[in-house]
Amino acid sequence: MQEALNFFCLFILYSVPGTSGQILCPDSTEILPCTCSQDVIDRTVNVDCSEANSSDEIHYPFNDVDWPFQNLTRFLLKENNDVSVLPEGVFGDISFEEIFVDLTSVTSLHFTTLLPSKDRLWSLIIGFSSLEEFPWEILPQLINLKELDLQFNALTSLPLLQSASLEYIDIMFNEISHVEAGWSLPNLRILNLNSNPVSDVPTGFFSDMGKLEEFLCFSCALGPTLSTKSLEFRSATFKRIVISSNSISTLDVDAITGLQPNTRLSFRDNEIRELTEVLFRPMLDVLSVDTGHMDIVGNPVKCDCSIAWVVLNPSFLGSVFGVCTDGTNFQDLDPIIFEDCARSEPTLVDDYSTWIDSRMK
Ligand SMILES: *[C@@H]1O[C@H](CO)[C@@H](O)[C@H](O)[C@H]1NC(C)=O
Ligand SMILES: *[C@@H]1O[C@H](CO)[C@@H](O)[C@H](O)[C@H]1NC(C)=O
Repeated sequence: MQEALNFFCLFILYSVPGTSGQILCPDSTEILPCTCSQDVIDRTVNVDCSEANSSDEIHYPFNDVDWPFQNLTRFLLKENNDVSVLPEGVFGDISFEEIFVDLTSVTSLHFTTLLPSKDRLWSLIIGFSSLEEFPWEILPQLINLKELDLQFNALTSLPLLQSASLEYIDIMFNEISHVEAGWSLPNLRILNLNSNPVSDVPTGFFSDMGKLEEFLCFSCALGPTLSTKSLEFRSATFKRIVISSNSISTLDVDAITGLQPNTRLSFRDNEIRELTEVLFRPMLDVLSVDTGHMDIVGNPVKCDCSIAWVVLNPSFLGSVFGVCTDGTNFQDLDPIIFEDCARSEPTLVDDYSTWIDSRMK
């Protein structure tokens, strides 16, 4: 028993690497209102400054107090309405692996906030705050950064983003209206731009995102026309694209390319009226090969002869989820009726909907 206890103590003492059992936090009274906690089991040293009533109250403990150990784990600022900037040098020489700012009034952070952490930071989350600017130019230096989450802020623009390490970017619910081609994010897997008024994605935007798995732009402003090569994906592992609720009524030829046989494409709640074969078939040719599919539920699609090419091809029909304007599920359309479309000379029929309706009754 004693032996086991000794072993346990040794384990605790040596469990934070390179620290030989030191106390890693300063005296708690010196850093108030910030608090520091050391967890020997998790090997973490976390600082929480959520009670700070000004930037100075964060600056002071990191710059005017001696820290026995400088490579900390996590900085937290949560539910704080008194700190509006993370100013120059706020963390002194102290570095973090994670910075988590949530539900605050922070409008900006100086790039030197991140500099000491440039080799260690892997997660940077500043969400549900008031960020108007971000020091994007420092991204290439943050060589371990995998996750950048700036959701629910007030960012209005993005420069060219560059990072060899980033895997996940979430900027949803900001005010970004414009993105430029030339982003270099070779390891990015998820790009979430949901609910930003992005009106156009330029040709070549995805050129250097060879590992992208998901592109999310729900409730952006990509309509009414999705132009040629705007969504030109270049990743063999591309799995999911969400462009629902964008008021898209038409696509140009090859507007969306680079889909994979198991890509899921959500086109929900747009204004597509006709599944024009020349525009949609190249996508279905790929998606129908495997588990990929296209969801166009919530579009006012006319289920007339213009959709016959889908209904008459079981694997296409199995790869599209949609509902006709009259409420019929695509899957319930009767192929036999649509066989007549192939037989008749379509130009002779003015209103296919009426014509199909009369046949389905
Ligand atoms: C801010 O906090 C300090 C000490 O933590 C306190 O002395 C001061 O009164 C506080 N100021 C406000 C405006 O709350
Ligand atoms: C602190 O982190 C830096 C950068 O990763 C590293 O070079 C240094 O050795 C670390 N120091 C300690 C005491 O772990």
